[in-house]
Amino acid sequence: MNKEILKLTAETMMAKPKGLLAMDESSPTCAKRFAALNIPETEENRRRYRELIVTTPNLADYISGAILFDETFHQKMSTGQLFRDYLKSINILPGIKVDAGAKDFSNHPNEKITEGLDGLRERLANYESLGAKFCKWRGVITIGDQIPSESCIISNCNALARYASLCQENNLVPIVEPEVLINGNHSIEVCDKITRATLKCLFEQLTAINIYYPGVILKPSMVISGDKNEKRADYQTVAEMTIKCLKDNCPDDLGGIAFLSGGQSNDEATNHLNIMNADNKIPWRVTFSYARAIQQSALNKWYGEDSNQSAAQDILAERARLCSASSTGNL
Ligand code: G3H
Repeated sequence: MNKEILKLTAETMMAKPKGLLAMDESSPTCAKRFAALNIPETEENRRRYRELIVTTPNLADYISGAILFDETFHQKMSTGQLFRDYLKSINILPGIKVDAGAKDFSNHPNEKITEGLDGLRERLANYESLGAKFCKWRGVITIGDQIPSESCIISNCNALARYASLCQENNLVPIVEPEVLINGNHSIEVCDKITRATLKCLFEQLTAINIYYPGVILKPSMVISGDKNEKRADYQTVAEMTIKCLKDNCPDDLGGIAFLSGGQSNDEATNHLNIMNADNKIPWRVTFSYARAIQQSALNKWYGEDSNQSAAQDILAERARLCSASSTGNL
Protein backbone atom coordinates (compact mmCIF):
# COMPACT_ATOMS: atom_id res chain seq x y z
CA MET A 1 0.00 0.00 0.00
CA ASN A 2 1.34 3.42 -0.99
CA LYS A 3 -0.39 5.94 1.25
CA GLU A 4 0.79 8.93 -0.78
CA ILE A 5 -0.82 7.57 -3.95
CA LEU A 6 -4.06 6.78 -2.13
CA LYS A 7 -4.26 10.19 -0.48
CA LEU A 8 -3.51 12.03 -3.71
CA THR A 9 -6.12 10.04 -5.64
CA ALA A 10 -8.75 10.68 -2.96
CA GLU A 11 -7.91 14.40 -2.98
CA THR A 12 -8.21 14.51 -6.77
CA MET A 13 -11.58 12.75 -6.60
CA MET A 14 -12.79 15.25 -4.01
CA ALA A 15 -11.41 18.40 -5.69
CA LYS A 16 -13.76 21.38 -5.55
CA PRO A 17 -16.12 22.07 -7.28
CA LYS A 18 -16.36 18.56 -8.65
CA GLY A 19 -17.95 15.25 -7.82
CA LEU A 20 -18.16 11.74 -9.22
CA LEU A 21 -20.29 10.47 -12.06
CA ALA A 22 -21.67 6.98 -11.48
CA MET A 23 -22.14 5.35 -14.89
CA ASP A 24 -21.56 1.81 -13.66
CA GLU A 25 -25.03 0.35 -14.01
CA SER A 26 -24.71 -3.39 -14.50
CA SER A 27 -26.11 -4.73 -17.78
CA PRO A 28 -29.37 -5.88 -16.09
CA THR A 29 -29.87 -2.48 -14.44
CA CYS A 30 -29.09 -0.67 -17.67
CA ALA A 31 -31.53 -3.01 -19.42
CA LYS A 32 -34.29 -1.93 -17.02
CA ARG A 33 -33.61 1.76 -17.66
CA PHE A 34 -33.53 1.21 -21.43
CA ALA A 35 -36.64 -0.99 -21.39
CA ALA A 36 -38.65 1.78 -19.73
CA LEU A 37 -37.94 3.88 -22.85
CA ASN A 38 -38.15 1.05 -25.39
CA ILE A 39 -34.45 1.38 -26.19
CA PRO A 40 -33.21 -2.04 -27.37
CA GLU A 41 -30.99 -3.61 -24.69
CA THR A 42 -27.87 -4.30 -26.73
CA GLU A 43 -24.19 -3.97 -25.94
CA GLU A 44 -23.86 -1.47 -28.79
CA ASN A 45 -26.63 0.73 -27.36
CA ARG A 46 -24.98 0.70 -23.94
CA ARG A 47 -21.74 1.73 -25.64
CA ARG A 48 -23.45 4.51 -27.63
CA TYR A 49 -25.15 5.83 -24.51
CA ARG A 50 -21.94 5.83 -22.49
CA GLU A 51 -20.12 7.58 -25.33
CA LEU A 52 -22.82 10.25 -25.27
CA ILE A 53 -22.19 10.73 -21.55
CA VAL A 54 -18.40 11.00 -21.61
CA THR A 55 -18.28 13.27 -24.68
CA THR A 56 -20.62 15.81 -23.08
CA PRO A 57 -18.95 19.20 -23.54
CA ASN A 58 -17.27 20.63 -20.40
CA LEU A 59 -17.97 17.49 -18.36
CA ALA A 60 -14.56 17.66 -16.70
CA ASP A 61 -15.41 21.09 -15.24
CA TYR A 62 -17.85 19.31 -12.93
CA ILE A 63 -16.69 15.70 -12.74
CA SER A 64 -13.42 14.46 -11.24
CA GLY A 65 -13.95 10.73 -11.70
CA ALA A 66 -16.30 8.35 -13.48
CA ILE A 67 -17.28 4.94 -12.14
CA LEU A 68 -17.45 2.43 -14.99
CA PHE A 69 -18.94 -1.03 -15.33
CA ASP A 70 -16.49 -3.74 -16.44
CA GLU A 71 -18.00 -3.80 -19.95
CA THR A 72 -17.36 -0.07 -20.46
CA PHE A 73 -13.90 -0.27 -18.90
CA HIS A 74 -12.82 -2.60 -21.72
CA GLN A 75 -14.89 -0.98 -24.48
CA LYS A 76 -13.81 1.38 -27.22
CA MET A 77 -15.47 4.57 -28.32
CA SER A 78 -16.44 5.09 -31.96
CA THR A 79 -13.03 6.71 -32.52
CA GLY A 80 -11.34 3.44 -31.51
CA GLN A 81 -10.05 4.91 -28.24
CA LEU A 82 -10.73 3.00 -25.04
CA PHE A 83 -13.23 4.73 -22.74
CA ARG A 84 -10.75 4.60 -19.88
CA ASP A 85 -8.03 6.28 -21.96
CA TYR A 86 -10.40 8.93 -23.23
CA LEU A 87 -11.47 9.78 -19.67
CA LYS A 88 -7.85 10.15 -18.64
CA SER A 89 -7.22 12.44 -21.62
CA ILE A 90 -9.94 14.83 -20.42
CA ASN A 91 -8.73 14.72 -16.79
CA ILE A 92 -11.45 12.47 -15.43
CA LEU A 93 -10.14 9.60 -13.32
CA PRO A 94 -11.43 6.21 -14.44
CA GLY A 95 -12.90 4.06 -11.67
CA ILE A 96 -14.48 0.64 -11.70
CA LYS A 97 -17.36 -1.08 -9.93
CA VAL A 98 -15.95 -4.36 -8.66
CA ASP A 99 -18.75 -5.95 -6.66
CA ALA A 100 -20.70 -8.75 -8.30
CA GLY A 101 -24.08 -7.43 -7.21
CA ALA A 102 -26.44 -7.68 -4.25
CA LYS A 103 -27.86 -11.22 -4.03
CA ASP A 104 -30.51 -12.75 -1.75
CA PHE A 105 -29.08 -13.20 1.75
CA SER A 106 -29.46 -16.83 2.78
CA ASN A 107 -32.03 -17.44 5.50
CA HIS A 108 -32.87 -13.71 5.62
CA PRO A 109 -36.01 -13.02 3.58
CA ASN A 110 -36.05 -9.65 1.79
CA GLU A 111 -32.42 -8.89 2.63
CA LYS A 112 -29.38 -8.73 0.36
CA ILE A 113 -25.70 -9.53 0.64
CA THR A 114 -23.21 -8.23 -1.89
CA GLU A 115 -20.96 -10.82 -3.52
CA GLY A 116 -17.65 -10.53 -5.33
CA LEU A 117 -14.79 -11.13 -2.88
CA ASP A 118 -13.56 -14.36 -4.50
CA GLY A 119 -10.69 -13.59 -6.88
CA LEU A 120 -10.97 -9.89 -6.08
CA ARG A 121 -7.24 -9.43 -5.36
CA GLU A 122 -6.34 -10.59 -8.88
CA ARG A 123 -9.11 -8.56 -10.53
CA LEU A 124 -7.99 -5.42 -8.71
CA ALA A 125 -4.35 -5.90 -9.72
CA ASN A 126 -5.50 -6.21 -13.33
CA TYR A 127 -7.70 -3.10 -13.21
CA GLU A 128 -4.87 -1.14 -11.61
CA SER A 129 -2.44 -2.22 -14.31
CA LEU A 130 -4.95 -1.03 -16.95
CA GLY A 131 -5.24 2.44 -15.41
CA ALA A 132 -8.09 2.34 -12.89
CA LYS A 133 -7.55 4.73 -9.99
CA PHE A 134 -10.44 3.86 -7.71
CA CYS A 135 -13.16 1.27 -7.15
CA LYS A 136 -16.71 0.97 -5.89
CA TRP A 137 -18.56 -1.67 -3.90
CA ARG A 138 -22.22 -1.27 -2.91
CA GLY A 139 -23.84 -2.97 0.06
CA VAL A 140 -27.62 -2.79 0.35
CA ILE A 141 -29.57 -2.36 3.57
CA THR A 142 -33.34 -2.64 3.31
CA ILE A 143 -35.75 -1.08 5.80
CA GLY A 144 -38.93 -3.07 6.39
CA ASP A 145 -40.87 -5.17 8.85
CA GLN A 146 -38.26 -6.49 11.34
CA ILE A 147 -35.43 -5.65 8.95
CA PRO A 148 -32.57 -4.90 8.61
CA SER A 149 -31.23 -7.72 10.76
CA GLU A 150 -28.02 -7.21 12.65
CA SER A 151 -26.46 -10.03 10.66
CA CYS A 152 -27.26 -8.32 7.36
CA ILE A 153 -25.58 -5.12 8.53
CA ILE A 154 -22.53 -6.94 9.92
CA SER A 155 -22.10 -9.19 6.87
CA ASN A 156 -22.34 -6.34 4.37
CA CYS A 157 -20.03 -4.07 6.37
CA ASN A 158 -17.50 -6.88 6.79
CA ALA A 159 -17.51 -7.45 3.01
CA LEU A 160 -17.09 -3.70 2.42
CA ALA A 161 -14.08 -3.67 4.77
CA ARG A 162 -12.45 -6.70 3.14
CA TYR A 163 -12.97 -5.13 -0.30
CA ALA A 164 -11.58 -1.78 0.88
CA SER A 165 -8.47 -3.40 2.31
CA LEU A 166 -7.78 -5.27 -0.95
CA CYS A 167 -8.22 -2.03 -2.92
CA GLN A 168 -5.68 -0.22 -0.77
CA GLU A 169 -3.24 -3.10 -1.11
CA ASN A 170 -3.44 -2.40 -4.87
CA ASN A 171 -3.20 1.41 -4.50
CA LEU A 172 -6.80 1.85 -5.60
CA VAL A 173 -9.01 4.18 -3.55
CA PRO A 174 -12.07 2.25 -2.33
CA ILE A 175 -15.45 3.93 -2.49
CA VAL A 176 -17.41 2.18 0.26
CA GLU A 177 -21.13 2.41 -0.41
CA PRO A 178 -23.52 1.22 2.29
CA GLU A 179 -26.86 2.15 0.74
CA VAL A 180 -29.84 2.28 3.08
CA LEU A 181 -32.65 2.01 0.55
CA ILE A 182 -35.22 4.81 0.29
CA ASN A 183 -38.00 2.33 -0.59
CA GLY A 184 -40.81 2.14 1.96
CA ASN A 185 -43.08 4.27 4.10
CA HIS A 186 -40.67 4.63 7.01
CA SER A 187 -40.04 7.95 8.73
CA ILE A 188 -36.81 9.92 8.56
CA GLU A 189 -36.20 8.99 12.21
CA VAL A 190 -36.20 5.29 11.31
CA CYS A 191 -33.82 5.96 8.42
CA ASP A 192 -31.58 7.89 10.82
CA LYS A 193 -31.50 5.00 13.29
CA ILE A 194 -30.68 2.42 10.61
CA THR A 195 -28.09 4.63 8.91
CA ARG A 196 -26.39 5.25 12.27
CA ALA A 197 -26.28 1.52 13.04
CA THR A 198 -24.88 0.81 9.57
CA LEU A 199 -22.19 3.49 9.69
CA LYS A 200 -21.18 2.54 13.22
CA CYS A 201 -20.72 -1.06 12.13
CA LEU A 202 -18.96 -0.07 8.91
CA PHE A 203 -16.35 2.04 10.67
CA GLU A 204 -15.82 -0.64 13.32
CA GLN A 205 -15.09 -3.11 10.52
CA LEU A 206 -12.86 -0.68 8.62
CA THR A 207 -10.90 0.18 11.75
CA ALA A 208 -10.56 -3.49 12.70
CA ILE A 209 -9.04 -4.23 9.29
CA ASN A 210 -6.61 -1.32 9.71
CA ILE A 211 -7.82 0.79 6.82
CA TYR A 212 -6.02 3.97 5.84
CA TYR A 213 -8.84 6.52 6.15
CA PRO A 214 -7.43 9.41 4.08
CA GLY A 215 -7.47 6.95 1.16
CA VAL A 216 -11.16 5.99 1.45
CA ILE A 217 -14.29 7.69 0.09
CA LEU A 218 -17.62 7.01 1.76
CA LYS A 219 -20.63 6.90 -0.56
CA PRO A 220 -23.65 6.98 1.75
CA SER A 221 -27.33 7.43 1.24
CA MET A 222 -28.83 10.51 2.86
CA VAL A 223 -30.93 10.37 6.01
CA ILE A 224 -34.31 10.77 4.35
CA SER A 225 -37.96 9.71 4.68
CA GLY A 226 -39.05 6.60 2.79
CA ASP A 227 -40.31 7.31 -0.71
CA LYS A 228 -43.84 6.22 0.25
CA ASN A 229 -44.00 8.15 3.51
CA GLU A 230 -46.91 10.57 3.46
CA LYS A 231 -45.18 13.25 5.50
CA ARG A 232 -41.71 13.37 4.01
CA ALA A 233 -39.19 15.57 5.78
CA ASP A 234 -38.24 18.82 4.04
CA TYR A 235 -34.88 19.71 2.46
CA GLN A 236 -33.51 21.46 5.54
CA THR A 237 -34.32 18.56 7.86
CA VAL A 238 -32.79 15.98 5.52
CA ALA A 239 -29.61 18.03 5.17
CA GLU A 240 -29.27 18.69 8.91
CA MET A 241 -30.02 15.13 10.03
CA THR A 242 -27.68 13.70 7.39
CA ILE A 243 -24.76 15.88 8.44
CA LYS A 244 -25.39 15.18 12.12
CA CYS A 245 -25.49 11.44 11.47
CA LEU A 246 -22.23 11.61 9.50
CA LYS A 247 -20.48 13.81 12.07
CA ASP A 248 -21.46 11.39 14.82
CA ASN A 249 -20.18 8.32 13.00
CA CYS A 250 -17.40 9.12 10.52
CA PRO A 251 -13.73 9.66 11.39
CA ASP A 252 -12.44 13.17 10.75
CA ASP A 253 -9.55 11.91 8.60
CA LEU A 254 -11.82 10.17 6.06
CA GLY A 255 -10.78 11.02 2.47
CA GLY A 256 -14.22 12.41 1.64
CA ILE A 257 -17.91 11.78 1.25
CA ALA A 258 -19.80 11.49 -2.05
CA PHE A 259 -23.51 10.72 -1.85
CA LEU A 260 -25.55 8.42 -4.04
CA SER A 261 -28.88 9.85 -5.23
CA GLY A 262 -30.81 6.67 -4.49
CA GLY A 263 -34.07 7.52 -6.25
CA GLN A 264 -34.30 11.14 -5.08
CA SER A 265 -35.65 13.59 -7.65
CA ASN A 266 -33.15 15.86 -9.38
CA ASP A 267 -34.21 18.81 -7.23
CA GLU A 268 -34.02 16.85 -4.00
CA ALA A 269 -30.55 15.55 -4.78
CA THR A 270 -29.12 18.99 -5.51
CA ASN A 271 -31.01 20.95 -2.83
CA HIS A 272 -30.08 18.55 -0.04
CA LEU A 273 -26.41 18.65 -1.01
CA ASN A 274 -26.46 22.43 -1.36
CA ILE A 275 -27.85 22.96 2.13
CA MET A 276 -25.32 20.54 3.63
CA ASN A 277 -22.53 22.56 2.09
CA ALA A 278 -23.79 25.76 3.65
CA ASP A 279 -22.50 24.29 6.94
CA ASN A 280 -18.86 25.30 6.96
CA LYS A 281 -17.95 23.19 9.98
CA ILE A 282 -17.98 19.87 8.13
CA PRO A 283 -14.61 18.10 8.59
CA TRP A 284 -14.58 16.50 5.12
CA ARG A 285 -15.39 17.42 1.55
CA VAL A 286 -19.04 16.46 0.93
CA THR A 287 -19.98 16.02 -2.72
CA PHE A 288 -21.94 13.79 -5.10
CA SER A 289 -21.50 10.45 -6.80
CA TYR A 290 -24.83 10.40 -8.57
CA ALA A 291 -26.08 8.18 -11.36
CA ARG A 292 -29.78 8.87 -11.84
CA ALA A 293 -29.69 12.47 -10.56
CA ILE A 294 -27.15 13.29 -13.27
CA GLN A 295 -28.11 10.92 -16.06
CA GLN A 296 -31.81 10.13 -16.03
CA SER A 297 -33.19 13.30 -17.69
CA ALA A 298 -30.56 13.01 -20.41
CA LEU A 299 -31.42 9.36 -21.01
CA ASN A 300 -35.11 10.29 -21.28
CA LYS A 301 -34.22 12.85 -23.94
CA TRP A 302 -31.84 10.59 -25.86
CA TYR A 303 -34.30 7.76 -26.36
CA GLY A 304 -31.69 5.83 -28.32
CA GLU A 305 -31.72 8.34 -31.21
CA ASP A 306 -28.57 9.94 -32.62
CA SER A 307 -30.60 13.01 -33.55
CA ASN A 308 -31.27 13.63 -29.84
CA GLN A 309 -27.65 13.29 -28.77
CA SER A 310 -26.74 16.95 -28.60
CA ALA A 311 -29.94 17.92 -26.72
CA ALA A 312 -29.37 15.04 -24.27
CA GLN A 313 -25.80 16.20 -23.70
CA ASP A 314 -27.02 19.73 -22.95
CA ILE A 315 -29.31 18.28 -20.28
CA LEU A 316 -26.54 16.14 -18.83
CA ALA A 317 -24.14 19.10 -18.74
CA GLU A 318 -26.74 21.19 -16.93
CA ARG A 319 -27.39 18.45 -14.35
CA ALA A 320 -23.64 18.08 -13.79
CA ARG A 321 -23.29 21.86 -13.43
CA LEU A 322 -26.07 22.03 -10.83
CA CYS A 323 -24.61 19.12 -8.86
CA SER A 324 -21.23 20.81 -8.94
CA ALA A 325 -22.72 24.11 -7.71
CA SER A 326 -24.50 22.31 -4.87
CA SER A 327 -21.25 20.63 -3.85
CA THR A 328 -19.94 24.03 -2.81
CA GLY A 329 -23.22 25.45 -1.50
CA ASN A 330 -23.59 27.75 -4.51
CA LEU A 331 -26.75 26.40 -6.12
O1 G3H B 1 -24.54 2.33 -6.70
C1 G3H B 1 -25.28 3.24 -6.99
C2 G3H B 1 -24.92 4.24 -7.96
O2 G3H B 1 -23.54 4.35 -8.06
C3 G3H B 1 -25.56 5.54 -7.61
O3 G3H B 1 -26.77 5.55 -8.27
O4 G3H B 1 -27.29 7.92 -7.77
O5 G3H B 1 -28.85 6.46 -9.07
O6 G3H B 1 -28.49 6.06 -6.62
P1 G3H B 1 -27.92 6.57 -7.92
